[in-house]
Amino acid sequence: MFRLTIALIIAATCRAQSTNPLAGDPQAAETGRWTFRILCAPCHGIHAGGGRGPDLTRGNYSVGDRDQDLYGAIARGVPGSEMPAYGDRLNADAVWRLVSYVRSVARHDAETVPGDVAAGEKVFWGKGACGQCHRVGGKGSGIGPDLTRAGRQRSLKYLRSSVMTPDSDITPGYGTVKVVQKDGKTISGVERSIDNFSVQLMDLSGKYHSFVREDVISIARESRSLMPSYGTVFSESEMNDLLAYLLSLRGSR
Ligand code: HEC
Ligand code: HEC
Repeated sequence: MFRLTIALIIAATCRAQSTNPLAGDPQAAETGRWTFRILCAPCHGIHAGGGRGPDLTRGNYSVGDRDQDLYGAIARGVPGSEMPAYGDRLNADAVWRLVSYVRSVARHDAETVPGDVAAGEKVFWGKGACGQCHRVGGKGSGIGPDLTRAGRQRSLKYLRSSVMTPDSDITPGYGTVKVVQKDGKTISGVERSIDNFSVQLMDLSGKYHSFVREDVISIARESRSLMPSYGTVFSESEMNDLLAYLLSLRGSR
């Protein structure tokens, strides 16, 4: 009997943990917002709209859509990603307040474009030749960011501007670097790592280059993307098809 009672208590505690105990408290999201600004905004953006980390206003999440999934992502981090674990720095109450904040910014308006996913997939691998630089589910090349989960991580607006005007918002970690060598030859590529002494980059053929600063004339970051602008390449319907395809990329981990 005693053992049964303990088991019931444990079960009850676990169940209480699966939904946000502060869900009905309007203050919780507000205090969560302040913590978010300090700890999370550098990666997720000041209004949670995304940056280095995914857009959290989309209202659905790769880690799962339940309160406990969001709690777990914040407390334990997302293994194999840049998302840190906060469980040892924040108590349960503070984590639930962050969950409340994340819920409060969800838009829930499923984004759609009047395009056709299958036609967009053809544009991606065919006319657009996007696979020359991007990977989707293991297919393609790793010069630019992996797009396997682009539809979960990015908003329609972000995806559209990435394709139409790549220079406007360069994905962190994928900037362009230009190296002028002592023989006058220049090499441009996507930055892989850069510090005071050396630079590693990948050129558009997918080849790695590594330079030590003292062996070259200059190493400079450039404010343009190596991704070509597709602003005038596609018709409006091709663009809609392509965006529908990108939004459909929800990956699986
Ligand atoms: C160093 C950058 C960084 C910081 C700081 C950071 N995150 Fe993240 N976060 C990420 C990345 C990257 C992911 C995507 C992980 C993945 O699925 O690959 C992520 C994922 C998440 C997810 C899951 C989203 C989804 O769709 O599955 C939540 C929720 C989240 N972060 C909340 C937070 C909160 C709250 C904070 C502050 C306490 C925070 N993050 C701080 C980078 C960061
Ligand atoms: C020559 C290489 C190249 C080609 C071809 C290319 N891209 Fe890119 N793409 C990049 C690079 C490099 C970046 C990162 C810099 C930036 O943000 O522009 C990028 C960034 C992106 C991003 C933003 C990803 C993120 O999560 O921030 C999207 C979306 C994207 N590309 C889609 C496409 C699509 C769709 C096509 C085909 C129509 C395409 N790209 C063709 C190199 C390329």
